[in-house]
Amino acid sequence: MKLFALIGCPVHHSLSPLMHNDAFQSLRIDAHYHAFHVEPHLLKEAVQGLKALQCAGFNVTIPHKTAVMAYMDELDETAKQMGAVNTVVNENGKWIGYNTDGEGFVRALCEQMNIELSGARILLVGAGGAARGIYFTLLKHRVSAVDVCNRTAGKAETFIAKQTSSVYSLEEAEERLGEYDIIINTTSVGMYPHVDAMPISLQTLKKGTIVSDIIYNPLMTKWLQEAKEKGARVQNGVGMFVYQGALAFEKWTGIFPDTKRMEQVVMQQLGGKTC
Ligand code: ATR
Repeated sequence: MKLFALIGCPVHHSLSPLMHNDAFQSLRIDAHYHAFHVEPHLLKEAVQGLKALQCAGFNVTIPHKTAVMAYMDELDETAKQMGAVNTVVNENGKWIGYNTDGEGFVRALCEQMNIELSGARILLVGAGGAARGIYFTLLKHRVSAVDVCNRTAGKAETFIAKQTSSVYSLEEAEERLGEYDIIINTTSVGMYPHVDAMPISLQTLKKGTIVSDIIYNPLMTKWLQEAKEKGARVQNGVGMFVYQGALAFEKWTGIFPDTKRMEQVVMQQLGGKTC
């Protein structure tokens, strides 16, 4: 039996073991996925230990996504560009680090909302690790613009490509919402337990805009709820979670799993309906 793992701190709440073990079972793959709590000061030992145990691959979550890069034998270009690794593959005893977060978000957006991105005008709210991953993946899809707004001025300037992107303050972006086809919240604002917080005001939102939030706890943030009431098409963070996992699964096994089934497994656990 092959061993796959998740390392993070904390990991007890993670839905990844359930999702991957169900996929292994349904595809009759003799493998098991286990979540390991790894304290930051023991990260190196944990990664070495997984190699000694001949672990076939693992996922990396908060707070290790950047620190784990130091212990990889090779890094994929996307992971380098994003400065973070979320998926590691054991290739003949070498750890190869990848990042499926950005691609996971974009695949979920296109497939679940049934859209193409070419020519789209997109606004990202936030300029942290999640924003960066999504930003670089969006740029590969011939979009017309990906603008970034953030609380801390200057943070987005460190990674944007000036020809396709402008950087705004949250207040400036709030005035310009009508210019965008797609608006994406990449911050943790509105996540449990601070469920009343909203990343930006939606006063100028126009009907029919696609509004996506990477948060899935709660399934429907206050921000998404308000967007829906204003006539937007909304998407929560379950899709990104499922697709980043599906892309990792594909790197490990060569098989792209049934994302609908994965979503059902996750939704059953979260106890709700997707929006
Ligand atoms: P991640 O890797 O999950 O993206 P991160 O790198 O800490 O996490 O980034 C979090 C993002 O959420 C940042 O854009 C952060 O804004 P700052 O750059 O100003 O810190 C944003 N964020 C977090 N809490 C926020 C809040 N209360 N209001 C506005 N933005 C917030």
